[in-house]
Amino acid sequence: MEIKQKIKDIISKFDKDKVMANYAKVIPYFKKYWFRTILALGLAIPIGSLDAVIALSLKPYMDIVMVDKTVQSPWYIPFLIVAFTSTQGLLNYLSTYMNAWVAGKVTSDMKKTLYDKLMHKDATFFDTKSSGDIMRLYNNDPNSACGSLLNNLKNMISRIFSSISLVGVLLYNSWQLAIIAIIVLICAVIPLTKVRKMIMEVTQKSESAGGKVITAYNEAFAGNKVVTAYNLYDYQSKNFRKDLDTMFGLSMKITQKTGWLSPMMHIIVSVGIAAVIGLGSYMIVQKQITSGNFVSFITALIMLYTPIKLLGNNAKAMQTALLALERVIQQLEAVPRIRDKENAVKLTGMNDCVEFRNVSFEYKKNKPVLKNISFSVAKGETFALVGNSGGGKSTIVNLIPRFYDVKSGNVMIDGVDVRDISLTSLRDNISVVFQDNFLFSGTIRENIMLGNLNATEAELHEALKDSYLEDFVNSLEKGLDTNIGERGVLLSGGQKQRIGIARAFLKNAPILILDEATSALDNEAEKIVQQAIENLMKDRTVFVIAHRLTTVQNADRIAVIKNGELVELGNHNELMNIENGVYKHLYESQFAKVQALA
Ligand SMILES: Nc1ncnc2c1ncn2[C@@H]1O[C@H](COP(=O)(O)OP(=O)(O)O)[C@@H](O)[C@H]1O
Ligand SMILES: [Mg+2]
Repeated sequence: MEIKQKIKDIISKFDKDKVMANYAKVIPYFKKYWFRTILALGLAIPIGSLDAVIALSLKPYMDIVMVDKTVQSPWYIPFLIVAFTSTQGLLNYLSTYMNAWVAGKVTSDMKKTLYDKLMHKDATFFDTKSSGDIMRLYNNDPNSACGSLLNNLKNMISRIFSSISLVGVLLYNSWQLAIIAIIVLICAVIPLTKVRKMIMEVTQKSESAGGKVITAYNEAFAGNKVVTAYNLYDYQSKNFRKDLDTMFGLSMKITQKTGWLSPMMHIIVSVGIAAVIGLGSYMIVQKQITSGNFVSFITALIMLYTPIKLLGNNAKAMQTALLALERVIQQLEAVPRIRDKENAVKLTGMNDCVEFRNVSFEYKKNKPVLKNISFSVAKGETFALVGNSGGGKSTIVNLIPRFYDVKSGNVMIDGVDVRDISLTSLRDNISVVFQDNFLFSGTIRENIMLGNLNATEAELHEALKDSYLEDFVNSLEKGLDTNIGERGVLLSGGQKQRIGIARAFLKNAPILILDEATSALDNEAEKIVQQAIENLMKDRTVFVIAHRLTTVQNADRIAVIKNGELVELGNHNELMNIENGVYKHLYESQFAKVQALA
């Protein structure tokens, strides 16, 4: 059966091992619903095979009823037709239902697992991905991987069985004619295999362009202020248009290279049918076959054309699904670089010190950002980091909660390397207040409670008081239950910052990191936020980064960071006494600015 071989070939054009390996990896997801999966796929066999029944039953009907006219058209034939189509319809419905059910379940199971994975991704992952990439990888890909995969598999099975049974009908009626028909069909299928690789490449490209388009929508939303302020409408639109045009171009390329396939097949197949009709008529006259054979044969041939043609489409859809599946598997298997060691210890509070020992770090290979940094911060100490922008201050503090891991050296808490501490306990002991604290859509209460989901109402009000939010909250009609809009757009910068601080109050961690927490604020807002921060700093070990040096003057010690190196270390007075010191210079230039403004 050459046609069967051909079909096998179409399927085997994929990188078989890889495809099988990927299939093997999704099987566990289907295992939970194995009965329904088998039902969904198994039903495709009778659905496909039943196609042949119509073609096959035409032979006796033609020969006996139409040609010989030996019997009356039996009364049950109309009933049989209805019964037959009803059966096929019912099977189809069952199969579609099962298919949708299993695909839906598996897709959502997979998305749940993927979302957990996404939550645990490290900072480097988010540094290198756009929001569009994430939407595509974590939402669109599972949809096409699971949803269409099963559907395609079902269609493929039913089409293969339909083809096999129809070829059986061809052979039954006349093997000579069958050989001609099969040769013609093979000629029609060959072009399909040629364009496969190109489709694969173009599909991949248009998908990455698709990711860019989603990012553009995201940026239109998140960046709307900047777009307006800088009149970037045209600039953004131009980029967007370019991406859309690329997508259009790529999709036209697919159409251009594949659009001719269908008409081409049509022509080739019609040649085949013409040949069969010519030869078949001759064979009838020669009494080699009956008219019933002939009609049954032609019917089967025409019916065969459909599944075979669709098998091509099927292969294309499978390809897309398999590519998506490959990416999904990649994400599912990705192991976060920053994760718990096997025998990680639990950190319960901080008793002694946080120490950096010969720490070096780089974001990109061979571009050192921190060079051999060493210092130790005792419990309860306030440690300030100052220096020019881009010097590496934020990078230093990001190493403490392990947003990134050191390249060499150690970051230690109470003498234990942070990499030996369980991530959950490490982060439970550290509060971070950033320059821009992300607020989630929801209410003020919800946002503050993120600091400690089990906090009592009394603790919540304590936190409100200490972060000077009470008056503001009381002035709101709905108080704590006021919605703050996506990302807190309905609040001022100072209010947002104080919500971030209240969150840290509830968290009540012994180590506090303040990274430019007041830098984005105007003087008025800064004053009150600064007071809230001072409340928060009490009885904690504090790392504070601030570029206004007046705010770091009172720190126990100040570290001056310049180009990734620790160049000066001491308290304000000590550093001011260093002749030509970096700190002294920074301080004096800021002071001069303030005086000039006064
Ligand atoms: N996520 C990142 N990926 C790559 N490079 C980064 C990243 N964050 C910061 N850098 C680079 O590292 C250097 C130090 O940055 P940073 O620690 O933010 O400086 P500071 O906080 O002192 O202004 C800068 O040159 C900056 O461009
Ligand atoms: Mg910084």
